[in-house]
Amino acid sequence: MTNNNMYFVANWKMHGNTNDIERSKSIIKISKLKKFKNHKIIYCPPYTLLKTFFDKVKKSRIFVGAQNTHPGTEFGPFTGSINSKLIKATGAKYIIIGHSENRKLGDTNFIINKKIKSALKEKLKVIFCIGEKYSERKKKITNLVLKKQITKGLIGIKKNENIIISYEPIWSIGTGLIPTNVELKKNINFIRKILNSLKASKKMKILYGGSVNPVNAKQLAEISEINGFLIGGASLNSKKFIDIIKKTIN
Ligand code: 13P
Repeated sequence: MTNNNMYFVANWKMHGNTNDIERSKSIIKISKLKKFKNHKIIYCPPYTLLKTFFDKVKKSRIFVGAQNTHPGTEFGPFTGSINSKLIKATGAKYIIIGHSENRKLGDTNFIINKKIKSALKEKLKVIFCIGEKYSERKKKITNLVLKKQITKGLIGIKKNENIIISYEPIWSIGTGLIPTNVELKKNINFIRKILNSLKASKKMKILYGGSVNPVNAKQLAEISEINGFLIGGASLNSKKFIDIIKKTIN
């Protein structure tokens, strides 16, 4: 049975312009429906659109988030960087940290841990991404990889109620491939077990990301352990994004 408190997070990655924000009107309408009361929509556009997006949706029940942050907490001489203080000032409430596309560019578990701490310091809610590569899945070391990412990423963080985990198997990002429900359920349960061992709140949400689309959303949402989706490609098309939401909550 579908969870009645689902998160729908749109990760626009390096896409989007102000016209795309206009198209969020139809999503604002959905967010106002009575049956949507307990669900959440979060838009994560590029940094340059955060403030404009926030101004557009601030009177609605839609939230805005950034896609990354600098690990430093204070202002300083870091040309081209944006830290959590600057993100907070745009009105954003959420932030994606540890996405595999940033891990690929050099974000280690150590850096990710620093970024999470800096975001929490600014009272941003963190969407912490983890996931295994195809080669790691093939070697059957998925659990090992997930455990390392979670424990290192959360080192020294005692208050974790503002953290949401997003499980994104790297091999399923942008490929159209998704794990079977059996595999996904197993991995999500394993993540929950690790979180429990770290004494994380039982209320901590676990999202799934990777090729979520209007065709597979319903099947994925049947896994009651999934508390929502982190959606890349399909979130850029508001019709597809709405379809995913409708298929999931209906
Ligand atoms: P796709 O939905 O395009 O596979 O991207 C998933 C993702 O990386 C979301 O963060």
